Amino acid sequence: MSTKVTWLGHATVLVRTGAGKTLIIDPWLEGNPLCPPEHLAPRVDAILITHGHPEHLGSAVALADRVRPEAVVGSRELCEWLTEQGVTSTIGLNTGGSVEVAGTRVTMVRAEHSNGIRDGDRTVYGGAAAGYIIDLGELTLYHAGDTSLFGDMQLIGEMYEPDLALLPIGGYSTMGPSEAARACRLLGVSQVVPIHYGTSPQLSGRPEELLAALEVESPRCQVHALRPGESI
Ligand code: NI
Repeated sequence: MSTKVTWLGHATVLVRTGAGKTLIIDPWLEGNPLCPPEHLAPRVDAILITHGHPEHLGSAVALADRVRPEAVVGSRELCEWLTEQGVTSTIGLNTGGSVEVAGTRVTMVRAEHSNGIRDGDRTVYGGAAAGYIIDLGELTLYHAGDTSLFGDMQLIGEMYEPDLALLPIGGYSTMGPSEAARACRLLGVSQVVPIHYGTSPQLSGRPEELLAALEVESPRCQVHALRPGESI
């Protein structure tokens, strides 16, 4: 079995490892306008959360309650909040930290973004927003979370040598296609899956714009413009 990466709309990504384990990143399932109905109730071994905004934290509490994954990974503060919601098996990392999860090595890396958790009528501090490097042995993935472009993506590329990057391109609340193309160059990746677009009118960046920008920034980088539910 080889690794399978499935986009479920927005920043929600399923990763099936070669050993048959499944991780989900930012599980926004119920309410995600792009999530195909057949993917609303995945079986997962681990949940990774980049930050606490509702379209990323999403269905994490309900999903964790249902499937009892071996690990729910997020920032320390986000995990403290999840524990208050009854989620067990949380692993509260901070940027730079790594942990073995579902047979993979997961490293939390920096993202440039805010991270409040909406809790009733207040917003609580969620720690640092993050991205993840997922080392699957045969393949290394980088899920950038919500972020702007930043120069240390070059360092992330040098240090972890990701093969495939999942990068936001919508703009408005993250970087857009031109910044994502520069990110591909800094990271040195040969493959990119555009995410975080098309779920609201403001997130107007499109894969064709990423493709056009890559012709200048990193012509050999291949764009996989997945439809929701589609895999590579
Ligand atoms: Ni966000």
